[in-house]
Amino acid sequence: MSGTKLFRLFSFIIIICSTINVVEANDLKEDFSRPQSIPFPASNPYTVEKAALGKMLFFDPRLSRNRNMSCATCHNPSFGWEDATQTATGSQNTRLDRHSPTIINAAWGERFFWDGRAGSLEEQAKGPIESDVEMNLPLEEAVARLKQVPRYNDWFSRVFGSEGISGDTIAKAIATYERTIVSGQAPFDRWVNGDEQAISNVAKRGFDTFVGKGKCASCHTGWNFTDQKFYDIGLSGEDEGRYVLTDKPTDKFAFKTPSLRNIGQRAPYMHDGRFKDLKSAIRHYVSGGISRASLSEKMMPVVLTESDISDIEQFLLSLTGTDSAVSLPLLPY
Ligand code: HEC
Ligand code: HEC
Repeated sequence: MSGTKLFRLFSFIIIICSTINVVEANDLKEDFSRPQSIPFPASNPYTVEKAALGKMLFFDPRLSRNRNMSCATCHNPSFGWEDATQTATGSQNTRLDRHSPTIINAAWGERFFWDGRAGSLEEQAKGPIESDVEMNLPLEEAVARLKQVPRYNDWFSRVFGSEGISGDTIAKAIATYERTIVSGQAPFDRWVNGDEQAISNVAKRGFDTFVGKGKCASCHTGWNFTDQKFYDIGLSGEDEGRYVLTDKPTDKFAFKTPSLRNIGQRAPYMHDGRFKDLKSAIRHYVSGGISRASLSEKMMPVVLTESDISDIEQFLLSLTGTDSAVSLPLLPY
């Protein structure tokens, strides 16, 4: 075969291979497309008024002993619905051990807290009100306080009828409001829907690396970029995560895979806020983490160059949506 023919044959093979690559990447894009509606559980269906009541409660500092702290203190819309500190600060300025996670897209969550100790948003919501290092107010006291507020009585009887104000109805209203907090359309979503100009070539390359040799999508999967499972990703530290609840050796140092939606707004990163920027978080995966019995078998060293890391960072930044502005509720009196 002459040199030119050989060259043509090779070019042909390369074109075929790159077409296959494009097809694969395009197929994978579909795995990340946004759902059409928010799932609400049958046991606590959505109503406009329930969500409005939940919003007031979420922003109401009267649910804390010192009347100075609300859910929004640590899940602050200004900071991607978490706070910008390494680990949260609670009642009497107590330093908590873990970083506040975001509450966006919680409607799709299966278990809550970094270690998954709550099975629903309703169950979760009661925790921080009562926790002595968070809002530090026993639920009966919270109920008694809200009953002193005439407009809250009106609201609760409109939404919950004769059940009125109780620990359960407070939790149901808050959970309903939380489910309405969904990350907005991001450039990445427009790209998934076919707008090739929506994200840069660097971000597209980053997506390829994320789903390809970076192996990130083996855990950060689906539209919300989480499989909702718990893994030891090999970070140092004393916190044994889910193991404390389950006593299963494979749960040692395991934490929930966080969503990566709007991740650019949520530094610092990980359950203990140890990484101050995205690049440091991505770089952790190059070593594959501390090798120990509990390390997830999905964690293995991945070869990422500095330019791959920048590509992934640009891709992750394309997941930041245009969220609608949050207006503060008027608190009932
Ligand atoms: C003092 C700060 C603070 C306050 C106040 C607070 N939280 Fe949290 N929240 C946290 C921290 C820290 C975690 C993670 C704790 C853990 O995993 O052990 C968390 C976890 C959560 C989660 C789980 C998210 C997930 O993805 O698993 C939800 C939902 C949540 N909080 C909602 C609320 C609600 C509702 C309120 C008000 C009733 C509230 N929080 C008050 C700091 C706070
Ligand atoms: C074995 C499953 C798994 C794989 C593979 C994986 N992650 Fe993670 N990721 C997690 C878990 C679990 C956490 C939370 C760990 C913690 O806080 O202790 C996390 C946290 C993160 C965070 C911080 C999120 C936050 O809210 O603090 C980023 C960013 C991230 N991963 C990006 C990536 C990238 C990029 C890759 C590929 C190079 C990747 N992950 C691969 C499971 C995984």
